[in-house]
Amino acid sequence: MTVQAAAEPILRIDHVTKRFGGLVAVDDVTFDVKKGEIFALIGPNGAGKTTLFNGITGIFPPTTGKIVFNGREITGAKPHQVAAFGIARTFQNIRLFEYMSSLDNVRLGQHCRMHAKLWDSLFKTPAEHREEQRVTDRAMELLEFVGIERHTHTYARNLPYGSQRRLEIARALATNPSLLLLDEPAAGFTPQEKVELMGLVHKIVDQGITVFLIEHDMKVVMGVSRRISGAARPARDRGISRDAALGGSAGCRGYQRLLRPRSSAPGRLSQHREWRDRRPDRIERRG
Ligand SMILES: Nc1ncnc2c1ncn2[C@@H]1O[C@H](COP(=O)(O)OP(=O)(O)O)[C@@H](O)[C@H]1O
Ligand SMILES: [Mg+2]
Repeated sequence: MTVQAAAEPILRIDHVTKRFGGLVAVDDVTFDVKKGEIFALIGPNGAGKTTLFNGITGIFPPTTGKIVFNGREITGAKPHQVAAFGIARTFQNIRLFEYMSSLDNVRLGQHCRMHAKLWDSLFKTPAEHREEQRVTDRAMELLEFVGIERHTHTYARNLPYGSQRRLEIARALATNPSLLLLDEPAAGFTPQEKVELMGLVHKIVDQGITVFLIEHDMKVVMGVSRRISGAARPARDRGISRDAALGGSAGCRGYQRLLRPRSSAPGRLSQHREWRDRRPDRIERRG
């Protein structure tokens, strides 16, 4: 048994379904994300990947099913509660405070961990000063960690695109999460930026944070993840083959040779399959 197989789940998605009116966006999905791993979810547009993140983070709670985080059911918790429990996320479409500096964006991210009361803020008590300093120091550390410290005082809107993505990650890390959800973090990146992003994801996991990412690019996925789940479109879109579900490119088919279906669970984010890399050297290397 590998260490990974023995790892406890940090997140359990248990028969989760999400309906928007008549549309079934996520259909009876069940899987675990294990502590300390990099878990990737792949699938075509519209498969329900972002909807699943929205369900986990309390934006659109599931219609049915359970979400369990660290052994505690969090189904239906509000976004601020989910953040306080230790789950942070980034968004497929970058969401930053455009007219705030990078530093302030990350400082704001720490809000859910701050203790100063209104009284302290109004009268600028020593406790408030200390907390402000701690928050600023931590924000600077995180900007350096994600590699954009040169943009500390730049408005978020004026940052290069790749740095904006990194800033979002820094802000998510500022909430001090144990689970980080990244929604297509490499979208729009150059190949070089993708390689650098993989390096950052590994650095994050080295800090003891579990990473669950949604990604289209199989190179990114194969470079960072040991376990990958594929999500196909809902059954009524019969035109989408499983190849398409896994990325749809020739390169993807190449990757399929490296991957072996471990189980064929029923759903899509039902026609959901779990894949496991079977090359032992790869499994050992990502330790
Ligand atoms: N808030 C919403 N209201 C109605 N339909 C939605 C909403 N969010 C997502 N959907 C629909 O759910 C399906 C899955 O979307 P999404 O989760 O964004 O897919 P993915 O992230 O896999 O590309 C799509 O058909 C989308 O239009
Ligand atoms: Mg999406």
